[in-house]
Amino acid sequence: MANTRAEAFAPATVANLGVGFDILGLALHEPGDVVRAERREDPGAVIVHIEGDGGRLPYAADKNTACIAAEATLRLLGVRTGAALTIYKRLPLASGLGSSAASAVAAAVAVNALYGASLTCAELLPACLEGEAAVSGYHADNIAPCLFGGITLVTGTTADQIHALPVPANIVLGLFTPDMAVPTAMARAVLPALVGLREMVAQTAAVAWLVDALHRQDIAELAAAMEGDVVVETARAHLIPHLEDARAAAKQAGALGVVISGAGPTLCAVCDDETTARAAGEAMQAIYARVGITGMARHTRISTKGAHVLGVA
Ligand code: HSE
Repeated sequence: MANTRAEAFAPATVANLGVGFDILGLALHEPGDVVRAERREDPGAVIVHIEGDGGRLPYAADKNTACIAAEATLRLLGVRTGAALTIYKRLPLASGLGSSAASAVAAAVAVNALYGASLTCAELLPACLEGEAAVSGYHADNIAPCLFGGITLVTGTTADQIHALPVPANIVLGLFTPDMAVPTAMARAVLPALVGLREMVAQTAAVAWLVDALHRQDIAELAAAMEGDVVVETARAHLIPHLEDARAAAKQAGALGVVISGAGPTLCAVCDDETTARAAGEAMQAIYARVGITGMARHTRISTKGAHVLGVA
């Protein structure tokens, strides 16, 4: 069955969860990107309009993550007709909120819905990864939670290597996104090529503790485990000025722990109620305001749903 148009939402994601570099991620309720796909008679995907990106995203079919994911989805669907995309970009670019993953996933889900939603999320995964790879490399720590929802452990790039972890009932995240871009490529370039045995032991212990805390729904221990990163944050801290001051302020406001979201610069405060999460986000915002850096404070829960279709006509 072919429809005329379909619209899909794909959420922001927090990759790494501090200690789980490239292997852990979670989906937020909001914000997220929306992509509308309209049927066109010519094959392939094209972008007709991008809103909300300040003119920064490419329209070229082979450079735009959403368009690449849409093309790959059309190939998987095996249809001869195509899709014209409109991207409503609600996530800030290069902010550590999985912006490119959200656009790729929203496009894949919208195109699938346009053509009768015959593909499962697991079947859409390679198309989404292909789109994300154009910007951030071929890793699934943003794509997996964005597509499947919840908290995911990623041990590879195929669907059977994506493992859903329990989501504690009362967890709320306070976020602050300073108005500065940290491109993922730059944030990956500063990482060490080798890690010492002592660091390897500390890092694996913290990841294991994190997974255990999730199973026990212990948000305080979860937050402490997330902060146990001794490899990635150390190398990236200089890209995110005032990180320690922001962490201290968020904790003063009641946050249980603060980590860099993905490659940054968004900071993510782990809290166990909404009032505290709001206060933590605002406390981090106040730290940056003092040094003249503006930005957006938010608080939100984890979405167990992930990407979804908004409407089909
Ligand atoms: N795991 C990735 C990183 C997330 O931290 O570089 C950004 O794509």
